[in-house]
Amino acid sequence: MGEVTLGLFGFGNVGRAVARVLLEKGREFEERYGLKFNVVGVADTSALIWDPEGLDLREVLEVKERFGRLSEWRNDYEVYELPPGEAVAEINADLVVDVTNDREAHTWHLRALESGKGVITSNKPPLAFHYAEIIEAAEKRGLPYLFEATVMAGTPIIGLLRETLLGDRVESIEAVLNGTTTYILSRMEEGLGFEEALKEAQKLGIAERDPSGDILGIDAGYKATILHCLAFYPITFDEISRRGIDEITSEDVRKARENGKTLRLVAKVEEGRVSVEPLEVPRSSPLAVSSTQNAAVIKTDLLGELVIRGAGAGLKETASGVVSDIIKAALGIV
Ligand SMILES: NC(=O)c1ccc[n+]([C@@H]2O[C@H](COP(=O)([O-])OP(=O)(O)OC[C@H]3O[C@@H](n4cnc5c(N)ncnc54)[C@H](OP(=O)(O)O)[C@@H]3O)[C@@H](O)[C@H]2O)c1
Repeated sequence: MGEVTLGLFGFGNVGRAVARVLLEKGREFEERYGLKFNVVGVADTSALIWDPEGLDLREVLEVKERFGRLSEWRNDYEVYELPPGEAVAEINADLVVDVTNDREAHTWHLRALESGKGVITSNKPPLAFHYAEIIEAAEKRGLPYLFEATVMAGTPIIGLLRETLLGDRVESIEAVLNGTTTYILSRMEEGLGFEEALKEAQKLGIAERDPSGDILGIDAGYKATILHCLAFYPITFDEISRRGIDEITSEDVRKARENGKTLRLVAKVEEGRVSVEPLEVPRSSPLAVSSTQNAAVIKTDLLGELVIRGAGAGLKETASGVVSDIIKAALGIV
């Protein structure tokens, strides 16, 4: 049995979903892969809880859910107030799992790699702004740096581009990569105004209290940037062109409908050119997705057209991508 130690940074919705999968499927992973995961550190913004022997994830979940802050921990484990840069260097983890929303996390991803640890992340900005530097650092040291859940949650578009289509040359990718905007546009088709649809999405927890990341196309832009880095060469988010759905009116939605089409926030990725904007797509198009589904149409020289569609958000769905990466990295270590 190969034991692999993990440091889990971020214990919000996704972090806790990952912890639950590790708890519930621990035995299955031992049987299927001969892998035993031992979580030695868990961090939120209040504290890092660390035990080199391993933490009881059930207890850590209980504390976070009861008190909202890991710093409330009153048990035997050590509770530290280390910034993540120091924490990743200090803890005895083989793999650092970043499921935070820390925009500056690239600094401590690099620190983790420098101290010999692989990194798994669902956090987009480190890749959308620092792809080249991070991947070079990982390759130089022969360490895994995996990020399946950054685009389309657990739907494996990253693995497809990075590990499967190795002989193909990608010509273009067109994709709907943000479920919140799809929800708002769908509700507008059903008669709601933009503000009403947005408020409803916020009430249902589909849109965040500050919805700008979704409606201005920033989230889709991060994802499209990452796809360009994989399919072609590294660029940064600052180089893409982006228009959100904030200026879409009920009239625009009605016109699309009259043309037998539907409005979606579409990312287009071609060599040297990335755009995100609301576009009319035919109702029969694979991009005419509903709800939080995402879809991408990938064109390559050998395979032609390939469509990948699946969940683009959700906790179990995102945990699927993160845990797959953890297993992939662990299999390379043991
Ligand atoms: N939710 C989804 O469906 C989904 C899908 C794909 C990707 N993602 C990405 O996954 C990440 C997590 O999403 P989420 O929904 O779980 O967000 P969330 O509920 O807001 O959780 C974020 C967690 O990160 C912690 N955190 C932030 N900065 C930190 C730092 N420097 N060091 C340690 N912990 C830190 C927060 O601590 P506190 O608890 O103390 O605030 C919180 O526990 C985000 O990058 C998101 O974009 C999410």
